[in-house]
Amino acid sequence: MAASKPQTIPHHIAIVMDGNGRWATRRFLPRVAGHKQGVESLRRCVKACVDRGVRVLTVFAFSSENWNRPPEEVSGLMDLMVGALAREVPKLGRDGVQLRFVGERGGLSPKMVKGLIDAESATAMNDRLVLNVCFNYGGRWDIAQAAAKLAERGEPLTELNLDRAMALAHVPDPDLFIRTGGEQRLSNFLLWQSAYAELFFSDKLWPEFDEAALDEGIAAFQNRERRFGKTSAQVTTNARSRQTA
Ligand code: IPE
Ligand code: IPE
Ligand code: MG
Repeated sequence: MAASKPQTIPHHIAIVMDGNGRWATRRFLPRVAGHKQGVESLRRCVKACVDRGVRVLTVFAFSSENWNRPPEEVSGLMDLMVGALAREVPKLGRDGVQLRFVGERGGLSPKMVKGLIDAESATAMNDRLVLNVCFNYGGRWDIAQAAAKLAERGEPLTELNLDRAMALAHVPDPDLFIRTGGEQRLSNFLLWQSAYAELFFSDKLWPEFDEAALDEGIAAFQNRERRFGKTSAQVTTNARSRQTA
């Protein structure tokens, strides 16, 4: 008989929150209204992750390439971020959420950078869930900045050193990588860290991504066999001996 799979909750979930613009356009609303609704969806998802015992949630909020969007959409997204910080930080504290912002801060306004730093220090002591918000982030930027750091310190470019210099060095790699909105691509998110993440693509647009959709992703994850390069037989033998130990 096949060993039953443990119903493990992924420790770290990463999400490409895609589909806000289409959600708005279908309702004859400006795209920024979709992003606004996206913040509501993120709040619901954070709460659901806390309730399910997920320890790290990493979301893609603004990519290095999103600067190429129309200026009014970019400024709408910046304003939304500043507003959301002011409103959400006290609530996140109540749920035990520690906020971390990941990405290049150079291109952001001083007001925004101050908001990010203040939100991080206000939530630094919370320990139920680490919420990494990737803002002005790109996977290639991350690898390049890690290599530059090592070069500056004169450290060898080894896999371990690079790993420690990456922007998400404070958390383990994602177990489950979800993308909403129906596209099946990475769009430059967590290229280094997702080496062994299980991928799950949802057709739901991000503003519609609810608890049931999250549970679908978690259930798909629980049905995968993570082999990390080993054979299936090795993995099941290890799992059995762990169960009987
Ligand atoms: C994702 O939604 C949010 C950001 C990129 C900021 P989109 O804005 O990409 O939504 P679609 O893909 O156009 O529907
Ligand atoms: C990825 O979505 C970025 C975020 C969700 C923040 P995009 O909508 O920018 O990705 P592409 O352009 O469709 O690949
Ligand atoms: Mg998109």
